[in-house]
Amino acid sequence: MPNTIVVGAQWGDEGKGKIVDFLTETADVVARAQGGNNAGHTVISGGIKYVLHLIPSGILWSNKLNVIGNGVVLDPIGLCEEIDKLRGQGLTITSENLIISDCAHLAMPYHRGLDQAREVQRGDKKIGTTGRGIGPSYADKVERTGLRGSALRDPDSLCDEVAERIKEHNVFVTSQGIAPVDAEVLLPKLRAAAEMLAPHVTNTVVALHEAIEAGKNVLFEGAQGTYLDIDHGTYPFVTSSNTTAGGACTGSGVPPRFISDVVAVAKAYTTRVGSGPFITENDDIGDMLHNMGREFGATTGRARRCGWLDMVLVRYACMVNGASELAITNLDGLDGLDEIKICTAYELDGKTIHYPPSTIAEIERCKPIYESHQGWKQDLSGAQSFADLPPNALAYLDRVAELARTPIKLLGIGPAREQTLRR
Ligand code: GDP
Ligand code: IMO
Ligand code: MG
Repeated sequence: MPNTIVVGAQWGDEGKGKIVDFLTETADVVARAQGGNNAGHTVISGGIKYVLHLIPSGILWSNKLNVIGNGVVLDPIGLCEEIDKLRGQGLTITSENLIISDCAHLAMPYHRGLDQAREVQRGDKKIGTTGRGIGPSYADKVERTGLRGSALRDPDSLCDEVAERIKEHNVFVTSQGIAPVDAEVLLPKLRAAAEMLAPHVTNTVVALHEAIEAGKNVLFEGAQGTYLDIDHGTYPFVTSSNTTAGGACTGSGVPPRFISDVVAVAKAYTTRVGSGPFITENDDIGDMLHNMGREFGATTGRARRCGWLDMVLVRYACMVNGASELAITNLDGLDGLDEIKICTAYELDGKTIHYPPSTIAEIERCKPIYESHQGWKQDLSGAQSFADLPPNALAYLDRVAELARTPIKLLGIGPAREQTLRR
């Protein structure tokens, strides 16, 4: 398998973790290049459920190198908790199989405080962030005041610097009614985290290039999705990084020339967590999926908003990401329906449009144009290959591929590793 980028084609939670896990079998290196522990990637393997936030899903496989790249914002305390939890589930995590970029920016306790305080300040216009300090961490990076992975090597100076910043930020945080960051509790945790993580910190650009030169394959695990991208998403209801394919290159130091494939992952319907426009949102679909115990967020536990598959979004995502193939997940979520709708275009101010508009005001005026498909009314979860799928399910997939102008090569019909079919 050549170097491959896996990205989300919707608003995150498309099942990227599961697809990355499936593709890791033939990869040598799995790298995260953007986002932070706002991500929550659920992978079920050997009957055990793992939730990854910062650590690449390749950690579930032995003998794979996992890289947290320069484009990531890394919460050291959160990462240590994640490592401890995964070790408790029986995984081996060492500085041999998990390396962290010395240029990754640190998401600090005061960033979380700021994130939450700014949400309060936004009132009705709140973004519905995960509260993990992602926006403020990237803001410091771009403002050129951030602390980087290399700072983990000197816990004394790091804690001194962070103590100063906590004091400064607590003034604003408390003015918004959010509890101040307690330095006495957090600094010892930060020091312990820095000591634990320091052996993992290295120049990951060199490590990635050495691996590629040695003929190894790198899989880039995207976090969030195309419509949460800071440039291409439904701004301002987005995250603070480039979640699209280009972000994998800038966030890892692996140039575009070395990338062969881009896999765009989309659910067979649409979900979104947090605020912002959602043209095909449909409460009946949401109730159905929530009653099945599905579509609750892996990071915050929030119920995800749900709706019909919006192919205007998926088509544009395939274009922006240069998708060479599509992975459709959660097809089994539609098993019980008589009628299944696909949004093929929008009506905006009396005109039919085939691409998503860029302003929230225009998106809010769009009405979905649907076509209707007959359901298959059959449990798909045991299918072993595409040949086992009923004709109505195959027709649905064919139409999705046609509208996306991208072939569907992978299909998810259940949450477990084995419930991924390859065409
Ligand atoms: P990610 O953030 O893109 O990795 O996606 P999440 O893990 O946050 O959310 C996807 C959810 O769907 C998780 O609960 C997965 O276990 C589950 N999932 C992924 N693919 C499938 C599928 O094909 N069928 C079913 N039933 N569940 C799936
Ligand atoms: P994965 O990788 C779904 C959403 C939040 C909020 C917006 C901004 O699991 O697909 P942030 O905390 O990033 O500043 O929040 O982005 N969001 C996600 N939604 N999946 C994710 O990651 C997300 N990461 C952030 O809900 O609307
Ligand atoms: Mg997720």
